[in-house]
Formats: sequence, C-alpha cells, structure tokens
Amino acid sequence: MESSVATSPKTQSDGRGPGMGPTVDSRLKTLAATMKRHQYQPDALIEVLHTAQELYGYLDPELLVYIAQGLRLPPSRVYGVATFYHFFSLKPKGRHTCAICMGTACYVKGAATLVKTVEDYAKVRSGETRADGRMSLIQARCIGACGIAPAVVLDGTVVGRQTPDSIVDHLKGWLENGSDRAA
Ligand code: FES
Repeated sequence: MESSVATSPKTQSDGRGPGMGPTVDSRLKTLAATMKRHQYQPDALIEVLHTAQELYGYLDPELLVYIAQGLRLPPSRVYGVATFYHFFSLKPKGRHTCAICMGTACYVKGAATLVKTVEDYAKVRSGETRADGRMSLIQARCIGACGIAPAVVLDGTVVGRQTPDSIVDHLKGWLENGSDRAA
C-alpha cells in the first residue's frame, strides 16, 4: 500500500525540520522508504522513530506528525511512544548538532576518521553533548547522500566530501571565540 505522505511536509522555520530543502529531502526519502519497507504497519513505529532520530538527531513535532500520517496512527500515540522511551529525544540537545553519516559509502570514505576528529577537536564523545551545551555529536545511518560521501549534517544542512580539515573549519564557527554562527 502506498502512503499518501511521501511528499514533503510543510517547511519549518528553524532550519532543522523535515521540510528544509533538497538536502533534507534525501533524509525524508530515507524515512519514507523505511515506512514503506515496513508496509506502513503501525507495529513498525519504534523502528521508524529510531530511523527518524538517526537521520535528524531528534524528533521534532512536525516529524512526529509526518510519521503518524505515514503509519496511520493518531499523533497522540506517536508522541506518547516518543516521550515514553528515554532513548528518543524530542529536542536537539546541544545548540548545534553535528551528525556524521556512518553508512557504508561514508564509512569507506573515512567517516570514522571524521568522528574521531570531531571528538578530539570539539571535546565531545559521539552520542553526547558538550558540557557547555554548544553542540551535540551523533552518528547517523545512511542519509541518502552517498554520492557526496563522506557526508555530514550540520544543523540540518547536508555537507558532502568532508575531510578532517573541512569539518573542523565548519565547527570553528560554533566553538571558537564565543562565535555562534551556523556553519
Ligand atoms: S552512506 Fe552516507 S549518505 Fe549514504
């Protein structure tokens, strides 16, 4: 059965939600493919929520509504499950989020080195948030940008062909000199 929600939901204004431009669409496609693979079965809710969180770093309300529509569940049910389990996060933990794709294409092109580089430079462990709350580092599954591997998502923007130097350059703006500009 084909879902009626495989198109972009409405755009969100903070640059992090599921409707933000073509780069984020690839993540939305991955999420839609996950729901399709599970034949839009409501029983797949937790698996779909896991995928969504790995793709976006957290589950914002718009994303929960999108999933609810896809699995034909009441939004209240999806929200209830997302808030019940501690491993789901409804808010970005850090002010900024760096999500490094660890899918196969990115892995073979050095994603693990990128993780190590960010951990060392930003002094944050993967899956955690810096003590000052400035940024969180997460690892993601394939975000649908394999052609530009290794890919990283910085505050909702996919950047490709990253190197240790380029990723540090992106993070400098977040972490140095009190600057808080986005990459
Ligand atoms: S494996 Fe990283 S984008 Fe596909």
